Amino acid sequence: MTRPSLLIARRIFPAVAERLAVHFDVETNDADTLWSREELIQRLRGKQGVFVTTGEPIDAALVAACPELKAVCSMAVGYNNIDVAACHARGITVTNAPDVLTETTADFGFALMMAAARRIPESEHFLRSGAWTKWAPDFFVGADVHGATLGILGMGRIGQAIARRGHLGFGMNVLYHNRSRLAPEAEAPIGARWVDKATLLAEVDHLVIVVPYGPASHHLIAAADLAQMKPTATLTNIARGGVVDDAALAMALRSGQLGAAALDVFEGEPAVHPALLGVSNVVLTPHIASASLPTRLAMAQLAADNLIALLNGGEAKTPVPAPKPAAST
Ligand code: GLV
Repeated sequence: MTRPSLLIARRIFPAVAERLAVHFDVETNDADTLWSREELIQRLRGKQGVFVTTGEPIDAALVAACPELKAVCSMAVGYNNIDVAACHARGITVTNAPDVLTETTADFGFALMMAAARRIPESEHFLRSGAWTKWAPDFFVGADVHGATLGILGMGRIGQAIARRGHLGFGMNVLYHNRSRLAPEAEAPIGARWVDKATLLAEVDHLVIVVPYGPASHHLIAAADLAQMKPTATLTNIARGGVVDDAALAMALRSGQLGAAALDVFEGEPAVHPALLGVSNVVLTPHIASASLPTRLAMAQLAADNLIALLNGGEAKTPVPAPKPAAST
């Protein structure tokens, strides 16, 4: 009996690739080349499964060109690179990797928020540059995190994990805005209160963005939104580039309209808006919020679990449901 064939679109952990090779005829990408869409299609033709990450474009034209495809399994939780409706229309199951990264990603979001509020990278750069000559009372003064008002935009699993850290660990007042409200039993233990978006923007000291990206959340935070925030506030984006208008953010940071920011994701990444690179009060990291070794391994193993189940006629552990009409905000 011929084995199903699988394309692993990026270089992944050897233990996971070896596990998949037990079950499938596997084509790997050991050079870790970022294939063009055309090359991806070419390599995927005739294969039943594909292992993807955050960026490979699985769009309608690709699935139409690959009629044998049965399973698109991503090791990421976000799946804005996959046209889920087009996959479903052709009977292709899409899976993502929720849950396994929640706590690690929340740790990182919190760390970024603290780094921006307390100006850690900015002051480190100053020290490394050799410019430190004396201590001073107003030296790199920033904003407090403990006891401040934390705002969460998007309140899924990761948003709730950040709220829990803020409420229980740092005595923060937690506000959130999301398309759907949490049940009171879910709000109470993390001290979270739903508010409309305008109230959230006006009242928070530290805003953390964790909404999924889609047409409804494109530039959800634009110049007019930034103008509603306190000039001492921080903004942290660990969701997806494109949720925040990076050019408007750079302008708000530069003009003092906003205190500081921290970004792990960028519109058009790995390119970063040049205006951001020239601003000192923004912390910039290369899309690594889930990047602890145990978590990245667990994410990859979950994608492998899904492929092994689906291509052997079983059920996926974490299928992505059919899309709803609008993204959660
Ligand atoms: C990373 O951004 C992910 O969606 O898992």
